[in-house]
Amino acid sequence: MTELVQECKSLFKNLLKIPDNFSIFFMSGGATSQFASIPLNLIDNPNSMASYVVNGAWSNLAFDECKRMAKVTLANPNQPKKDWNYAPKLQKSDIHPESKYVYYCDNETIHGVEYSQPPESFGIDLVTDMTSNFLTKPVDFTKFGIVYSGAQKNWGPAGLAIVIIRNDLLNKKGLPYKPKSMDYSYLAKTDSSEIPVPAFALVVARETIKWIMANGGLTRMNELSVQKSQILYDTIDQSNGFYVNSVKKDSRSRVNIICKLQGNDKVLTDLFVNEAQKHGLLQVAGHQSVGGLRFSVYNGMPLDGILRLQQFMKDFQANHQNKPKL
Ligand SMILES: Cc1ncc(COP(=O)(O)O)c(C=O)c1O
Repeated sequence: MTELVQECKSLFKNLLKIPDNFSIFFMSGGATSQFASIPLNLIDNPNSMASYVVNGAWSNLAFDECKRMAKVTLANPNQPKKDWNYAPKLQKSDIHPESKYVYYCDNETIHGVEYSQPPESFGIDLVTDMTSNFLTKPVDFTKFGIVYSGAQKNWGPAGLAIVIIRNDLLNKKGLPYKPKSMDYSYLAKTDSSEIPVPAFALVVARETIKWIMANGGLTRMNELSVQKSQILYDTIDQSNGFYVNSVKKDSRSRVNIICKLQGNDKVLTDLFVNEAQKHGLLQVAGHQSVGGLRFSVYNGMPLDGILRLQQFMKDFQANHQNKPKL
């Protein structure tokens, strides 16, 4: 097990070019457990302050969790839930000067919104959730204090997370009641030897990283993500309003392409999902909280699958546009 952990750490380090002043460790419990782990480790008392960008469902959950432990402010208070369709840029005045860190989600999976560049955090440590776009592009670690990701989209089975943290942040006192299983400094020091992580998940991670390396690395994964998502965005944009994506163009996700069918017609949407399934195109329904459609094009989705989906979308449109309601 120790060898497997070390091998995975070294593969991640090489693939992502993680600098020497960062520690890498794995945790059981997925990405959601980081919503609590981050304030537990970076906040030292309940009156400490943190700033959160909330522009989608996942950052909203992280914000709610932090609220239970610290004084947290919104960095983008002028972006209510109905406007969760873009990745806001930050000004210095958006960040509370006493913030212990600035938190944002690099890719909002449910809302199909992605940052093309991390937001400016004006000298305050930046913490990011990269669960759904991790390993789809290179990462500039000089911009971050912490990058974390759950495994289930691009690098392994659900239930495992990776935390990549700048070493000086491991010296933070944190809140006194943080459990050992969430104590970053303990986890970095003991390297999964005291609190084990699922070995099968690590084996899948190891093989996935080797596959990415053999297939051109992160620059190539990014090129493919751009190419695959662009095919679907073009299909949507050229559909004369049959498919609608309302995410601002500079914030459109390369990995989660969401859209609604004309008039957000529920019957037509269900029909699309069922017909797609018959064509071997699975899991195209949008998240239950937003409805519509969502096409997730993680690294594992081949270009051929995207071309088949594109053809299906065109055929479905030809068969159903402006037809009387079913
Ligand atoms: C961006 C993001 N953050 C967090 C999570 C929660 O991950 P987990 O199920 O590992 O707790 C997800 C789940 O898909 C996600 O997409």
